[in-house]
Amino acid sequence: MKENRAFQRGAVYQIYPRSFCDSNGDGIGDIPGIISKLDYLKDLGVKILWLSPIYKSPLFDMGYDVADYFDIHPDYGTMEDFDNLLKEAAKRDLKIVMDLVVNHTSDENEWFIQSKDPKSPYHAYYYWRKGKGKNGELPPNNWTSQFTGPAWTYEPSNGMWYLHLFSKKQPDLDWHNPKVLEEVEKVINFYLDKGVYGFRCDVINQIYKDSLEDGKGHAQSGRGSEHYLMTEGNHRILRQIHDDCFAHRGDRVMIGETFNVDPENGRRFLENKELDMFFHFDLMNLDKALFGILTKKVKTTKFKETAFKWQKGVSWNANYLENHDQLRSIPRFGDEEHYWKESGKCLGLFNVALKGTPFIFEGQEIGMVNFKDIRDPEKSRDCVAWMVSDIMKKYPIPKGLKKKLISRVDRDHERAPMQWNNGVSAGFSSNSSTWIEVNESKSFANVEDELKDPDSILNFYRKLLRLHQNCDPLCLGEFEEIPTKGNLIAFKRIYEYQEVVVVINLGKKEIPYPEFAKGKECLINTYLDPSKEKKLRPYEALILK
Ligand code: GLC
Ligand code: CA
Repeated sequence: MKENRAFQRGAVYQIYPRSFCDSNGDGIGDIPGIISKLDYLKDLGVKILWLSPIYKSPLFDMGYDVADYFDIHPDYGTMEDFDNLLKEAAKRDLKIVMDLVVNHTSDENEWFIQSKDPKSPYHAYYYWRKGKGKNGELPPNNWTSQFTGPAWTYEPSNGMWYLHLFSKKQPDLDWHNPKVLEEVEKVINFYLDKGVYGFRCDVINQIYKDSLEDGKGHAQSGRGSEHYLMTEGNHRILRQIHDDCFAHRGDRVMIGETFNVDPENGRRFLENKELDMFFHFDLMNLDKALFGILTKKVKTTKFKETAFKWQKGVSWNANYLENHDQLRSIPRFGDEEHYWKESGKCLGLFNVALKGTPFIFEGQEIGMVNFKDIRDPEKSRDCVAWMVSDIMKKYPIPKGLKKKLISRVDRDHERAPMQWNNGVSAGFSSNSSTWIEVNESKSFANVEDELKDPDSILNFYRKLLRLHQNCDPLCLGEFEEIPTKGNLIAFKRIYEYQEVVVVINLGKKEIPYPEFAKGKECLINTYLDPSKEKKLRPYEALILK
């Protein structure tokens, strides 16, 4: 891939603003807090910062329910603070990517409030329908929300139902209405004009519903999705947005969050310039059983196969192992108990060495982990935990087990405050009480201590990101699989006449040092002491030339 775009050489760092850094001691992260950490991020070696939503919102789904796209939530600061962030980031050659949430708005968005009136022009911004049954007492179709329960809610004030693929506080916009596109383009242009580099587009492959006919799938997994996943209309709209807002602007980026995407659709997004890259969920789904409520162990061969399918399948990937919706990666794919540090680095190298743009979620670079204890749904700040807890009330499941299952889906684990040091509230806030409590792992996983330790996960990431951006084959090269067995993962990255070889032992047992890796120059190793080329140590990973 030989275009010259910032996202081809630079890693993206996802900031969860509520949990990154609190500047005023209210226990909630904010924009001035982010500004105070820009030097840290620059030193880390990332180039692009993606901010989870900071817009005005009732925060039912923590900002993925926007009440006003042109305003900043007061918890985070003001529009002036945001402009200041853009300025300070630019000084450090850091780019800002916003979250664009336009499948739905908040039910507290003025558009939706107005839309309840059938005579309002906003009525047609959403899916308002009469119910089925004699008196319209049944929802218009059998679709289910991707969170839980039916995808329709009845509104007594107008006697109609509205569609929501997520919670009932997140009504879906009707993209058949050209006014919706017009409004969203205003939002996009507003932020692009300010100098934002681009957008991460929330659940962007389901915005255009082909029909409202009954769905066939299982009630527990978003029934009805065959009518709205990756429709022709969806492709058309994204292309339109590209032509209207991006084509004339030079290097900007559109990153899609795309559930259930396959390489064929993925290629369409890229080739048609609808998106520059997109997140698939295939790796994230590997350890899930029973609609994500249970977990199973992931075999390295499966992990490798899945990642490689996408490496070969599309020209550019958005590579990630963590985000604000996923449990931390070390306990999932590494070994938190015995090889916390080793597996943290190993997974980091894997993610950064793949073809595409590497995404790092805040705290991943210091090896943050999930809460040890099972979380009490009463204490959770996550609407998914509340909704799953509600559903479970209907079933005779023992209390302890219920709590355990809910804790598994509770997104507070990965949203806990960033651990800057081992002091009060991990240095995240001067307040000892924070919006989600600080994780006990701050004692060993924190920025201050890890900066001092040459062998830390953090210092490894710093080396890794520097290598990545300065090594053409690593950031721009084509991908080529090297066949391996068991816990060994290996591949090449090839750019013009240069190539690097990536060798990873994703397991706790030593394995013989592979022949193809012998006698090469080592560019980076997850262990400080050099490999003797006899064995790959537990979770050892290297990039060789
Ligand atoms: C995306 C977001 C998630 C949110 C959902 C609904 O998956 O990442 O946090 O709950 O969309 O907007
Ligand atoms: Ca604050």
